[in-house]
Amino acid sequence: MVAPVITIDGPSGSGKGTLCQLLAAELNWHLLDSGALYRIVGLAAERKGIDFDDGSALAELAVSLEVEFNPSVSGEPSAVILNGEDVSAAVRAETTGALASKVAVHDPVRQALKELQRSFLTAPGLVADGRDMGTVIFPAAPLKIYLTASVKERAERRFKQLKNKGESVNLAALLEDIQLRDERDMNRAVAPLKPAADAIVIDSTATAVEEVFVKVLERVKAVYKI
Ligand code: DC
Repeated sequence: MVAPVITIDGPSGSGKGTLCQLLAAELNWHLLDSGALYRIVGLAAERKGIDFDDGSALAELAVSLEVEFNPSVSGEPSAVILNGEDVSAAVRAETTGALASKVAVHDPVRQALKELQRSFLTAPGLVADGRDMGTVIFPAAPLKIYLTASVKERAERRFKQLKNKGESVNLAALLEDIQLRDERDMNRAVAPLKPAADAIVIDSTATAVEEVFVKVLERVKAVYKI
């Protein structure tokens, strides 16, 4: 039997990263952070000076990368090792999110990462975090969530997160970055960000992610009878 999977898609700052970590920890399932894969390609492309308009060069780079995800320690996101170097901090930077969104518009890049993403689906189960988990990567998933929140709320959440990490940030600039990223992710020709037809759409603008977690966990238990 194929292992169980839950897909969680949504725009940046919707709280899906936290929701996915909580679910994976509670269920003891694997976690696919598909955004990290696009971020790694974006980061490596910038370091190598590859043209961001050259989809086939970017796809070639995507298949050549040696990436390792070291397991998370005490609830922290897992460490990302690229060609032997720990690039965890660089991968999670806001600027890398924008690079990821640029490489992600190219179909050859998305194709290059497809099988790798599907290979994460193994027992005991998978929580898949991304933009096209329910629409393209795991279209047969019996439980699909689309998590969203207003742009203002998402920018404020990001602002607090970055401030807590000691980074100097500007709320207006963050809001603009998020709007630009939404625009690119939602309007690209391939695998645009949108809820799957059978997704449950949750707006977390006025709800804490911990509350969303409780609701989604109930759904998981009902769907998979666990
Ligand atoms: O979830 P994230 O912020 O780490 O994602 C970074 C970018 O990568 C996002 O703006 C668009 C792209 N992405 C994608 O196109 N498809 C995915 N499944 C995950 C991320």
